[in-house]
Amino acid sequence: MHSKKRVFSGLRPTGRMHLGNYLGAIRNWVAMQETRDCVYGVVDYHAITTPFNPEELRSDVREMVLDLLAVGVDPDRSALIIQSQLPEHTELAWILGTITPISWLERVPTFKEKSEMHPDYLHLGLLSYPVLMAADILLYGANEVPVGDDQLPHLELTREIVRRFNHMFGETFVEPQAYFQKDSARIMSLSQPEKKMSKTLGPDSYIALGDAPDAIRKKIRKAVTDVGPSEESMSPGVNNLFRLLSLVGGQEEHTRLMDDYEAGTLRYVDLKDTTAEAIIAFLEPIRQRREELAADEEALDHAVQSGHELASQMARETMANVRAVLGVG
Ligand code: TYM
Repeated sequence: MHSKKRVFSGLRPTGRMHLGNYLGAIRNWVAMQETRDCVYGVVDYHAITTPFNPEELRSDVREMVLDLLAVGVDPDRSALIIQSQLPEHTELAWILGTITPISWLERVPTFKEKSEMHPDYLHLGLLSYPVLMAADILLYGANEVPVGDDQLPHLELTREIVRRFNHMFGETFVEPQAYFQKDSARIMSLSQPEKKMSKTLGPDSYIALGDAPDAIRKKIRKAVTDVGPSEESMSPGVNNLFRLLSLVGGQEEHTRLMDDYEAGTLRYVDLKDTTAEAIIAFLEPIRQRREELAADEEALDHAVQSGHELASQMARETMANVRAVLGVG
């Protein structure tokens, strides 16, 4: 019997990791390794559901693996996988697709957003994106899934799929729970602070873990702080900067600047400069670690090979059971 909780989560390889990914989800990936059995995936089949460049995709996968190792995902404790290397992900997705009503998928918010963003790139894979995600999670029997709050509708759908599958074919899968911290589950964009930090909003909207100190200073200086017509409550941009400051370890500065804010004497430029320096200091050890790792091809290969074997065995066992339950194979 398996005693430790199981964890799965995934990250799309679209360029480099940003602070939203890290503070919202990946930080928890790292922490959960201490007490749980974790499988973490660079989900390249999810990345090809929006327009992409094959050459860049290959190098983005490598960059993401490097970022994950640099922030502390430990391939000797967790299985780190590349989704497309394990055919069971798409195999299970096919099966789950046969029990998932189309209406469930059409109401998923990210489907609506992405189909509006890329109206000429509307396809079956975009609609069934959450089914592949459910397969990722269920393949490893994960109880917990560390994610940012934009993924919650997908997690809810996964739970619905589990209930329906178990109802139709008998208890087969466990219902996974989302795992997140309230204060960091949604980091907002620097340039459009009413939206979540995301690469799709352009480079000024996010801080990548690999951004150079000067780029970080410039982006934070440009961050939107306008209070708008109502000055009664803190504007989303100012609120986001305060939150970032606190999340990257600037608690003392946070308290001091919050006192200024409450007294009506806060200069936004002080908040910005303090936040930028705190982010730079916070990212420095990650940047150093990444530089060391980038020079070590063997360590990179080892990182994904050791995880692959363990994950592959788990995935094969799940599929053997699922096939038996369905009467196929
Ligand atoms: P992705 O690649 O967009 O993002 C990876 C993780 O980062 C979180 N995140 C954020 N958290 C807080 N604030 C933000 N601004 C922010 N931006 C991103 C995301 O919530 C996510 O946890 N569909 C997933 C990938 C995936 C997956 C899975 C996740 C595929 N299969 C199975 C969990 C389980 C995605 O596109 O994440």
